Amino acid sequence: MKEITLESKIRVCQKDELPDDERNLVELAIEATANSYAPHSHFHVGAALLLANGKIVKGCNQENAVLPAGVCAERSAIFSAGAQYPDQAVTKLAIAARAGDGKLTELPVSPCGICRQVMVETETRFQQPMRILLYGETGVYVIDGIKELMPLAFTEF
Ligand code: THU
Repeated sequence: MKEITLESKIRVCQKDELPDDERNLVELAIEATANSYAPHSHFHVGAALLLANGKIVKGCNQENAVLPAGVCAERSAIFSAGAQYPDQAVTKLAIAARAGDGKLTELPVSPCGICRQVMVETETRFQQPMRILLYGETGVYVIDGIKELMPLAFTEF
């Protein structure tokens, strides 16, 4: 039997090492954690994305007592961008989170499977990979497109 090895490339740096536009996006994602509505998990996630036209759209997680009715920060930002600028590709997306103690997470926060699937379709829709910036106090993961986090993604039927 043949074996297939799938690899992901992730670079790590400090926030201050990022180019200006990416550092700004990370700071906006951190800022967006303040608008999170997370009375159930107390885990406040913020996202900020850059569109091809230069506009920035922020999002944050919105929870509900009926748990599946809530939405993650990433999808909140992507769907908001789709509603406002339906023909604009997402070129960069930053994510940050604060735990219940109000502190930013030490490790980079990582998108859930459903958000990864939505990010796959967003890239496919616009034929444009998005740079993903996952913020943690100890470093920022820089990822050149969702395929690095979602190999063998389901894209069409
Ligand atoms: N959450 C996000 O918004 N984004 C992620 O990347 C991970 C998880 C939210 C969903 C839920 O409101 C809370 O964090 C706890 O899972």
